[in-house]
Amino acid sequence: GYCQGTPAATQSAPVNSDVPQSELTVLFGSQTGNAEGVAEQLVARAADKGIKARLVDLADYKPKQIRQEQWLALVTSTQGEGDPPDNALDFHEFLMGKKAPKLEHLNYSVLALGDSSYEQFCQTGKEFDERLAGLGATAMAQRVDCDVDYEDLAEQWIERLLDVMAARAGASQPLAATPGAGPVVESVYGRKHPFLATLLTNQLLSGQGSDKEVRHIEVSLEGSDLRYQPGDALAVCPINAPALVQAVLSALGFEADARVELDGEPRALADVLRLEREITLLTPPLMKQWAELAGHDELRALADNPEELRLWTAGRDFLDLITQWPVEGLEPQALVSLLRKLPPRLYSISSSQSAEEDEVHITVAAVRYHSHQRDREGVASCWLADRLVEGDQLPVYIDPNKNFSLPSDDATPIIMIGPGTGVAPFRAFMQEREERGASGDNWLIFGDRHFRSDFLYQTEWIKWRRDGLLTRLDVAFSRDQAEKRYVQHCLAEQAGEVWAWLQQGASIYVCGDAEKMAPDVHQTLLTLVSEQGEMTLAEAEDYLRQMNRDKRYQRDVY
Ligand code: 2AM
Repeated sequence: GYCQGTPAATQSAPVNSDVPQSELTVLFGSQTGNAEGVAEQLVARAADKGIKARLVDLADYKPKQIRQEQWLALVTSTQGEGDPPDNALDFHEFLMGKKAPKLEHLNYSVLALGDSSYEQFCQTGKEFDERLAGLGATAMAQRVDCDVDYEDLAEQWIERLLDVMAARAGASQPLAATPGAGPVVESVYGRKHPFLATLLTNQLLSGQGSDKEVRHIEVSLEGSDLRYQPGDALAVCPINAPALVQAVLSALGFEADARVELDGEPRALADVLRLEREITLLTPPLMKQWAELAGHDELRALADNPEELRLWTAGRDFLDLITQWPVEGLEPQALVSLLRKLPPRLYSISSSQSAEEDEVHITVAAVRYHSHQRDREGVASCWLADRLVEGDQLPVYIDPNKNFSLPSDDATPIIMIGPGTGVAPFRAFMQEREERGASGDNWLIFGDRHFRSDFLYQTEWIKWRRDGLLTRLDVAFSRDQAEKRYVQHCLAEQAGEVWAWLQQGASIYVCGDAEKMAPDVHQTLLTLVSEQGEMTLAEAEDYLRQMNRDKRYQRDVY
């Protein structure tokens, strides 16, 4: 295949078995030196990004050493009709053989070089990749198969791999379980150590003509031991838009590869801004600090007036701030210290693990708007919508929600009120109740703009309604008629029925918009309880408060 000359006489460098945990081992199987060249390039880029990496010729690598690795990049070419390069023969025999160890602690990625004019294109790389996965290792970045003009693809693979490692490890934290740690009940992955999950599905859920872009996203948790309950959220650690990072760098006159230090590690400024720092939301502390640095009275006054500050920062980001109020003599390191850590974004999970096992589903509305002469994007939602494709990796963990969960008694009826993406956890509820054969009645009240384009998971609701799992289904499409129709209108229209359900011990769940929808629904429930239960409004308030204490009135609003 991608035939390469003779490897330089191999000299056996002793391989250090005492590998620090966040060090990337870069192995190469190379015949003429192309794969070796790419491997060298990877090690150099890693150094740029403050990631420790060591380069090892496969001929010098004790195959059993692979048990000790946590981070592995493997660059290999293929010879003739699909054979490994000579320097990779021993490793290949070991890895493909019966004695190969389980590699559940290993995060890896393979770059395969080849020549597509051969039938067994990139065969060795494919074999290594499939075998490593089969042994339980986790792919950090999808294998890339390169044709003769491999340079660009190889570079992209290098960047992706290192970004993923940096995002996940902060270039310093071990991500996977320590080898030999044995089985653990609780997953090692969490806020401190997100799991690098694989995106399985990223599809448009909203239909043609919708004002919104809502996506159904499926993520694999395979190999993570992560467990979740219906009602829990998936925390996604996003990456800032490259264009915004570039614009911030340009506005400040900084080079992308300016050196900065983060958690004691040297890093490139652009990477820190992309992966580690919030540059969209303008927080009050940042505004106050910036006002001091800028030494501008107008900005100081703004930062000291909470209401004015809220108005000014709404729809603006860090780029607006530095453009309008430049700061003289700011150093890259000072910038990094000023900005807060890029927080993960939480999405209500729309699947049940009893039904979906290793998968977790979320329902994401892409946040896009125009303000102050620029198009703006929600960091995580648009990263998911525009820049992540199936097979890509994303760092995630489970954010449990103790105050939004199904009744422990499967016979308890539930009323679910979830307009827009607020419907997400109710899909999880239904999957769970279906899986458990729960006998309790289920009532969904869903709302959105248009029946044609916005009836999220329509076919699933209809199927569940037909099966009888869903006892009642009410919908409020706000813009399909002259008068606005909202979920609370359904509640009010069916006040008697809602009250009957409550009398039978039903629990009420509300998920979605916190600003307007949830208070309006609450108000409607108050009226309903007071009228149906013949109570004063104060008594109705107490009634709902008691339901809340009894966990029969739960809200997940944001
Ligand atoms: P609108 O956008 O037509 O005003 C999901 O976003 C659905 O919630 C949409 O149909 C939206 O309607 C509706 N919505 C907006 N404000 C609401 C409110 N205060 N209470 C309930 N639903 C609301």
